[in-house]
Amino acid sequence: MAVEINEETWKILHQHAVDAMRKAYAPYSNYPVGVAALVDDGRIVTGCNVENASFGLTLCAECGMVSELIKTGGGQLKAFTCVNALEEILIPCGRCRQLLYEHGGPQLQLMMPAGIKLMSEVLPEAFGPDYLTEIATKLKTTPNI
Ligand code: THU
Repeated sequence: MAVEINEETWKILHQHAVDAMRKAYAPYSNYPVGVAALVDDGRIVTGCNVENASFGLTLCAECGMVSELIKTGGGQLKAFTCVNALEEILIPCGRCRQLLYEHGGPQLQLMMPAGIKLMSEVLPEAFGPDYLTEIATKLKTTPNI
């Protein structure tokens, strides 16, 4: 069951995402992005996009946020928000949905332009860590493989 995230918490997350967005390094796209998420222990982690002259090496804001999550002790993401330069709610890109799934699972709540959605709606039929443990168990218990 998804936990109740109150309006005040969403507001705080939005403000953290805006503050992070202001620090973005986006000289090529001129499209700064900021993200913030609530962790299950109450921490807030944030990130901004960091571009590169070799365009394909660009780090989305979510990459920095996940890095901060792990660096500051790990945990599970409970609520996530992403903003653009106009401080509007932005949807996370496809690749970053996979990043978020890894650390939030299907119950992660995302603030989307149309309102709050679950990760299971935003990335249905996701490939995740369970698939890896499942096959490892099957390989161990199935003879002759
Ligand atoms: N961007 C993010 O940081 N996160 C997303 O989820 C969407 C896209 C960045 C990458 C690039 O620096 C800029 O937005 C334009 O694509």
